[in-house]
Amino acid sequence: MSGAPWYLDCDTGVDDALTLGLLVAQGADLRGVGTVSGNLAAAGGARNTLDLLALMGRPDIPVAVGEHDPIGGVFDPTEGAKVHGVNGVGEIVLPRAGEPVDESAADMLIRLAHEHPGSLRVLAIGPLTNLALALERDPALPSLVAQVVIMGGAASAPGNVSAVAEANIWNDAVAANRVFSASWPITMVGLDVTMHARFEESHRVALAAGGASPQALAAMLGVYFQFYTPILGRPSCALHDPLAGAIALGLVVPTLAPVVPVEIDDTAGPGRGQTLVDLRGRFVGYPLQAGARHTVVLEVPEGFGDALLEVLLRLP
Ligand code: RIB
Ligand code: CA
Repeated sequence: MSGAPWYLDCDTGVDDALTLGLLVAQGADLRGVGTVSGNLAAAGGARNTLDLLALMGRPDIPVAVGEHDPIGGVFDPTEGAKVHGVNGVGEIVLPRAGEPVDESAADMLIRLAHEHPGSLRVLAIGPLTNLALALERDPALPSLVAQVVIMGGAASAPGNVSAVAEANIWNDAVAANRVFSASWPITMVGLDVTMHARFEESHRVALAAGGASPQALAAMLGVYFQFYTPILGRPSCALHDPLAGAIALGLVVPTLAPVVPVEIDDTAGPGRGQTLVDLRGRFVGYPLQAGARHTVVLEVPEGFGDALLEVLLRLP
């Protein structure tokens, strides 16, 4: 369990839901959750997050609704619905519980950073709109935040929403560029590792035998498996957000994670949303390059699906 205080920014979809379960089961000190449009609209993500936290026994964790539209753009729910279902949680119906707090996600992040100067850690598993707006409102933010762990990008792996772009970056490339350009230390957990972190059908069946929360998580995996089965070639799914959460909490320790320069293509062309990661030092141990500030996770140990299942079965 990580003793640090955390802020989670998410677009509660199915793998975000698994990550909420991981954080709760691991007893993470989760001080607040902000939602952003991505898998579904930010308001719907907040609804799902509130209902899931209550089901998991943590209705005390405040949830703030964040930005609906990407910076300079308009949110389009079409693609997210194909992966996570229209309601973001595989079309299952969760018992409704609680309401979002009045403050915005960006204001929640800024407030928590000032309440925990130098110790707040941020886990971002959706598009980076809220983080970019928080940076705009409070330029001192990077000096107050100890670490930013981002599920996003692809160093040398193909994209998932285009040949080169990963969804969280692509959905708000302008925001991503501002976030990666800020002076805080980022750990990037991209498709290079998350596409190989899997839940198999056996994991889903075992999860369904757990308590109410694991049963709900297993039920929402139905739609998510349907999307990933033709991509992965067998009934299974990729554990994007949970792997980032496990790395954030120290449950998974990367075996290769160099500090290298990362740039974001925020143009409107075919390269939109690409994370340009400079891996040219790969044959000589990635010597530190001028301006390199971000840790890019390239390899993790095998077996994360089994570890995640064990953690999630501890939920009520
Ligand atoms: O590309 C995967 C990411 O996009 C995950 O965070 C998933 O939840 C979606 O937001
Ligand atoms: Ca997500």
